[in-house]
Amino acid sequence: MDGLMRAVASTSIFVFAIGMAALGCKKSEAATMQSQELFNGACARCHGQNGAGGEPSFEGGTAPRNFRDHDFQLSRTDEQLKMTIRNGKGTGMPPFGPAFDDAQLAALVAQIRSFDPEGK
Ligand code: HEC
Repeated sequence: MDGLMRAVASTSIFVFAIGMAALGCKKSEAATMQSQELFNGACARCHGQNGAGGEPSFEGGTAPRNFRDHDFQLSRTDEQLKMTIRNGKGTGMPPFGPAFDDAQLAALVAQIRSFDPEGK
């Protein structure tokens, strides 16, 4: 009986530890996976999955910004990037308004920054 209880107890500690490890792992991966997913879902069709920009989506339109341009990265603050995502820009960049919460906006900014070839 005692042995059984010990076995049950150690098994549940083992399962608990595995669960925590899995959770911990998932959490740290989610930050980057989630931002890439957000970007792929909402932005990549214009800006490209690698952030390099692309063709204007209509004749005579502005080309989607190339995020691999270091000078562009230097010329905008995080706050400005968030404003653009919320409010849009010109005729080509759609306003996303309240589509993203603060955490998602921060993730998108992190994603944009990750395309900077001279970024950290
Ligand atoms: C329909 C195509 C399209 C989609 C979708 C799109 N963009 Fe854009 N984006 C553009 C175009 C075009 C520009 C250039 C606008 C200009 O300079 O007039 C632009 C510019 C930008 C800029 C640069 C603004 C500046 O300061 O000059 C940022 C940042 C940006 N987009 C972020 C995003 C993010 C993040 C998403 C996804 C949530 C996204 N865009 C989705 C077309 C798009």
